[in-house]
Amino acid sequence: MAKPRPWIEAFAPATVSNLGPGFDCLGLAVRSEGDRVRARRRDEAGVALLEVEGDGGKLPREIDRNTATVAATWLLERHAPGRGVELMLHKGLPLGSGLGSSGASACAAAVAVDAALELGLPATVLVEAARHAEGIACGTPHPDNVAPCIVGGIVLIPALDPLRLVSLPVPERLWLALYTPGCSVATADARAVLPARVPLSDTVTQAARLGLLVHALHEGDLALLGEAVVDDIVEPARASLIPGYLEAKAACVEAGALACSISGAGPTTFALADDELRARALLEILEEAYTHAGVPGRGFVDGVGPGARVTTPRLH
Ligand code: HSE
Repeated sequence: MAKPRPWIEAFAPATVSNLGPGFDCLGLAVRSEGDRVRARRRDEAGVALLEVEGDGGKLPREIDRNTATVAATWLLERHAPGRGVELMLHKGLPLGSGLGSSGASACAAAVAVDAALELGLPATVLVEAARHAEGIACGTPHPDNVAPCIVGGIVLIPALDPLRLVSLPVPERLWLALYTPGCSVATADARAVLPARVPLSDTVTQAARLGLLVHALHEGDLALLGEAVVDDIVEPARASLIPGYLEAKAACVEAGALACSISGAGPTTFALADDELRARALLEILEEAYTHAGVPGRGFVDGVGPGARVTTPRLH
């Protein structure tokens, strides 16, 4: 009997997208939390999903609806026609949290399939596969979670067709407090509340802040970064979807956070700090504020980390 083929496991990190003024075009990868996907070759063509765990039974199991299998199918159809893989998905990230959960599953699958079939595909192709899966899960194929999830660090996406990814410098002392209150916000709902039109003066301010943010990262100037992480377009429209958000943010700013805003579509709230201890203090403040608002959840403190990667030994 043929020996079973080895499983290849990939880890893909949580991401914080938008980062204030960078709606749909800027995001970062965190170090520690994320999703895992195992992949192995099979003789039959196409994708099979053998197991999903850690999602409380909430994610779709259908191959054309689960983001891990959608990304894997996209890759096979374009880059390995006639070949097949089996997948197992372990969710480490909460669903509908604003931590790029759907994107992390897609990215872990893309990386695991690429390695299991020894395709050696470039990052842009893996991002395209995961972006396609985001489109299925959230209604729009936004790249600002999956790009940093694959590439790691802080990534700007200046163009989609063709896809361009720009890695920005990561200041050494940048720490994040990330708290996910106990309410979930579907990305599609959080996008439905956004204004269809924005006054020109607001877009000018937002463009200036995004420019300042890029400058601050190049300078490694965390105070300037804090000034830049402000969003007067998307955040005000979404604040009411997150009970206690405005109070939590005010408490963080009062306590000396460099900045505080909504991670992606929310409800996860992030606060920036220039050292770990301050980030831990900000996490406590977020915890207290959301508990007070009746939506206690959970949080963690983290730095910016690398992108999705294989975590089992390579085949050769
Ligand atoms: N940029 C997207 C949004 C991220 O804010 O809707 C969603 O994960």
